[in-house]
Amino acid sequence: MADLDQSRTPYFQALLDYVDAGVLPFHTPGHIQGIGMDPAFREFVGDNICAIDLTPMPGIDDLLQPLESIKEAQELAAQAYGADHTFFLINGSTSGNQCMMMTAVNPGEKIAVPRNSHKSMLGGLVMSGARPIYMQPEVDEDLHMDHCVTPETIERTLDEHPDVVAVYVVSPTYYGVAADLASIERLVHARRKLLLVDEAWGPHFQFHPALPLSATQAGADLCINSTHKMLSAFSQCAMLHQIGDRVRLDRLKAVLKMFLSTSPNLPMVASLDVARRQMAIEGHALLSRTIALAEETRRRLNLIDGLYCFGDELKGRKGVFDLDPTKIAVTVKDLGYTGYEAAELLRRRYNIQVELADLFNVVALFTIGTTREAADRLVTAFEELARDDRPLDMYAPSGVLEQRLSHGNYRLPKIPPMRMLPRDAYLAQTEFVPFKESAGRICAETISPYPPGIPVIAPGEELTQEIVDYLRLEMRAGVRIQGTYDDELKTVRVVLE
Ligand SMILES: Cc1ncc(COP(=O)(O)O)c(C=O)c1O
Repeated sequence: MADLDQSRTPYFQALLDYVDAGVLPFHTPGHIQGIGMDPAFREFVGDNICAIDLTPMPGIDDLLQPLESIKEAQELAAQAYGADHTFFLINGSTSGNQCMMMTAVNPGEKIAVPRNSHKSMLGGLVMSGARPIYMQPEVDEDLHMDHCVTPETIERTLDEHPDVVAVYVVSPTYYGVAADLASIERLVHARRKLLLVDEAWGPHFQFHPALPLSATQAGADLCINSTHKMLSAFSQCAMLHQIGDRVRLDRLKAVLKMFLSTSPNLPMVASLDVARRQMAIEGHALLSRTIALAEETRRRLNLIDGLYCFGDELKGRKGVFDLDPTKIAVTVKDLGYTGYEAAELLRRRYNIQVELADLFNVVALFTIGTTREAADRLVTAFEELARDDRPLDMYAPSGVLEQRLSHGNYRLPKIPPMRMLPRDAYLAQTEFVPFKESAGRICAETISPYPPGIPVIAPGEELTQEIVDYLRLEMRAGVRIQGTYDDELKTVRVVLE
C-alpha cells in the first residue's frame, strides 16, 4: 500500500464537519449535543465533547461496518503499526483478549497461555471453550514479581502438546518487562501455530527504537494494545492488530461485530484516530523526551538510600529480555514499608497517586503526559519518605511484609489436574463449600494470592489438599487473595456434584 498521509484524522474530521454543518438532530444520544444534559455535568465536561457525542450515520461511518472515515482511520493506524489490518476497540484490551481467543481457537482446541495472564484471558477461555495449556512465567524472588514466559518454556510446552493450535503471550508485563518476541515468533510459526500477543501495556513500542520490539514488528498474527494506558486515547480505547494470512479475517470481523456496541462512544473512537496521528507524526520526539525524563528520574531515585528501581542490569535474567524504561518500579522493601504502605503515604502526604502497589514495589508510569515538575515532586516525596521514621502504628497494621518473608513465599504448589474445561466449570451449577473442606472438589473460580498474582487454581481444576494447605498458610500470613467471590476465602465456589 502507498504511504498514507499520517497527518490526517478522517474520523475526528467527520465529527467536526457534522458539528459545523449545524444539522438539526433527532437522534441518539438523548442529551442532544448536551442540551438535555445535567447542567453541572455539562459545565464540567464542556460543550465540545457533548457536541461530538453523536451516533453512527451517513457521513460519520459505523464502527461495526466501516466504509468511510473509520475505514480510513483504521487503515492509517494499521500502516502506523505495520499491521495488515487494525481494528478500533472501545472496551479495552479486555475485549481484545476475548476477540483474539474467539478468533483463533475452537471449543476443545488447545491454546498455550501463561498462568499469570490478565483475567480477560480467562474470559476468552470461557467464551471460546478452548482448553488451556498453562505455562509458568518466570518468578523473580528478589523483586517479588513475575516476568515473562521464555522461549524455552514455550518450546517445552509445544513438545509436550504438539496439538496446541495457538500460543498466547503477555509482553510487556505490568512492570515493563518484555519477552523475547522475535525468538518466540520464529519458534511458534516454525511449528505452524498461531501467535497471539497481549501487548496491552506496549502501545508505544512501535514508535521509538529505544523501546522493546513491538508485537507487530515481531510478526504476531494478532495482538492488542491498550491505547488508553500508555498513549493519549480516552480510557477503554484499544486497538487490535492483525498480520499475515494465518488467521481468518472473516472470522475475526464476525467476532468483532459480536463484541462491539452498536452505539459506540464517538469521542472515544475519535481519540483513537488522533492518538495514532500524534504518534505517527510526533511519536519519536514525544517518546524521546519521556524516556529521557524517566531514565533521569530512575537515576535520581536510585541515589536515595533504601530505594531500588531496576533498570538495564535486569536484562538477561530469566524471563527478562528487554525493558520499557517508561515504567518505574520502585522497590521500597529496604525502607521497611510494603509497597501498599508507600503508595498510601504518597497519596495521603504528597497527593501523589501511583499506578500499582504490591508487597515490595510501587510502579509509577511515565507517559507523554508526565511533566518535569511531576517527576521532581515524585523524587522529593521519595526523599522525604526515605528520611522519615517508619510510622508503624498507622500504616503497618498487619506486619504482612515480615510474615510473608518468613515463610518461603514463592514456592507455588503444582498446577492441579484439570477435570473440566474452564468454560464448563464456569457455566456449571455451583455451590459454596467451606474452603478448608474443599479438597477433591472442582473449583469454579480463580484463586490468586497477590503477589505474585499467579492463579494457584483456575476454574475446572481440582482443589488438591496441597493447594488448600498452601492457601490457608498464605491467608494466615496476611496475603491478599484475588479472584474469589468470598474475599476471606472462608468458602469457595465449586461445581455441584
Ligand atoms: C496484561 C493486560 N492485559 C489486558 C488488560 C485489560 O486492558 P483494558 O483495561 O484496556 O481492558 C490489562 C489491564 O490492566 C492488562 O494488564
